[in-house]
Amino acid sequence: MRAATVAAGVVAAALILSGCESPSILRAEGSAGAEIVTLAIWVFAILAGVLVTVWGILVFVVLTGRRRREEDASRSKGNLKIEIIWTAIPAVIVTVLFVLTVVTTERINVPKQGADFTGIGRQWWWDFSFPGLGFNAPNEVYVPVDRQVDIDIESSDVIHSFWVPQMGGKVDMIPGHVNHIQFVPLTEGSYLGECAEFCGVQHGNMRFLFEVVSLEEYSEWVRRQQEPAAEPTGDAAIAGRQVTASVGCGSCHVIRGTSMSGTFGPDLTHFGSRKGIAAYTLPNTPENLLRWIQDPQGVKPECNMPNVPLPLQQQQEIVAYLEELQ
Ligand code: CUA
Repeated sequence: MRAATVAAGVVAAALILSGCESPSILRAEGSAGAEIVTLAIWVFAILAGVLVTVWGILVFVVLTGRRRREEDASRSKGNLKIEIIWTAIPAVIVTVLFVLTVVTTERINVPKQGADFTGIGRQWWWDFSFPGLGFNAPNEVYVPVDRQVDIDIESSDVIHSFWVPQMGGKVDMIPGHVNHIQFVPLTEGSYLGECAEFCGVQHGNMRFLFEVVSLEEYSEWVRRQQEPAAEPTGDAAIAGRQVTASVGCGSCHVIRGTSMSGTFGPDLTHFGSRKGIAAYTLPNTPENLLRWIQDPQGVKPECNMPNVPLPLQQQQEIVAYLEELQ
């Protein structure tokens, strides 16, 4: 019953977080995705043609052939011309599909300009590292519209797969190896990213937000991300900063500008500005954050965030502090 409630909650949250739209690859909003959709339509059309032709011949033969005499049935045997034709037709179809696929692959593989940032797969969240700009943006990343984005793809533990369905194809995230993806985001909007390679218990809850914005908004986002954590203002938030530092959150999390410097878990410096929590599986609200802090193992079983027993007041103070980290 409890599992069913959690499952229903996760589905509802996913719908809310994704703007009630499933990220169909057929609604491509990235250059690579658009090429893939064009290829998919061509392949579908060709194969539909094959299907209709074969069924048409089959129906025709069934309706007209049954009154023929037995000896007529084998009259195409040894007919070289017919044998060549029905070997050549499939060969031509396969060749056309092959050429279309190679052309699409070539068009997707535009020249690299140098990585804008690195996407790192972790069990079970995403770290987007901007080493040149001095910050990490976990689980939510912004890119400017109409400009090529180049991403280095890595993993810090097991094999994951980077996938923003509406932007383009999947790229494996392999420990000790750097892959690349590059494409041009074509339309501003919020796009759901997900892990496309089974990577453990929470594979299905490993999501991220890919925000395509104007160049001005992107510059503003970068500027905000580069700033250290805001000073808390409310009483609860000020107390929350004390609690957060004293109960050991800093052994896994970093909040730039404070004593917390752990790198195992997501960077919390601008936690309050994010739209989702727990690898973008729940909307970022004080209620959800409290639930998450109280029972991470209940929200995402087997995740690497331990349940830390704390009095309710301290939990609420942590929530107040983190939500102020805009
Ligand atoms: Cu990470 Cu599946």
